[in-house]
Amino acid sequence: MAEEDQVIRTELRFQDVHERGVGYPAKRLKAIKKAMQKLHTLETMAVNIYKYQITSQRNALNIQLVAAMANEMTHLQDFQAKLYEYDLRPRKTRFAFWLVGFALGTGSRLLGPRRSLRPTSGRRRRPSLTTGASYARWNGMRKRGRLSPRMALMKKAMWSAGRSS
Ligand SMILES: [Fe+2]
Repeated sequence: MAEEDQVIRTELRFQDVHERGVGYPAKRLKAIKKAMQKLHTLETMAVNIYKYQITSQRNALNIQLVAAMANEMTHLQDFQAKLYEYDLRPRKTRFAFWLVGFALGTGSRLLGPRRSLRPTSGRRRRPSLTTGASYARWNGMRKRGRLSPRMALMKKAMWSAGRSS
């Protein structure tokens, strides 16, 4: 492997981490907490869905799954860092979603490669790198011009995070 193919992400500096939410009204903080914890939990699940779909074979699907897993890991990292920036903590029950992700990932791996990258969408042929579990719903809503609840939540969380600065 060529040296330029080895990706090690650059570390965050102190100035990249921000104290957020200082002086916010309690109601707003509560809404942020709810959204951030939910997103963090869903990303935990998404990482596991892809992780447990990866088989020991060397093939194109596994390459896609590794990319999908790594992308979900960056989302997880972002939401986890945000939580602590707001002086919040991840949900205590997130491990249940870890297990759900494990079950969905392992289950769809056992059902065969056609189920991977879209664990809940049996009819769809095009693989997706968005969260497999929500892909079909998201795609349906996108076609009708509406965002999925998860995307709407993410948009809302990003909007309130941006409004702070
Ligand atoms: Fe994600």
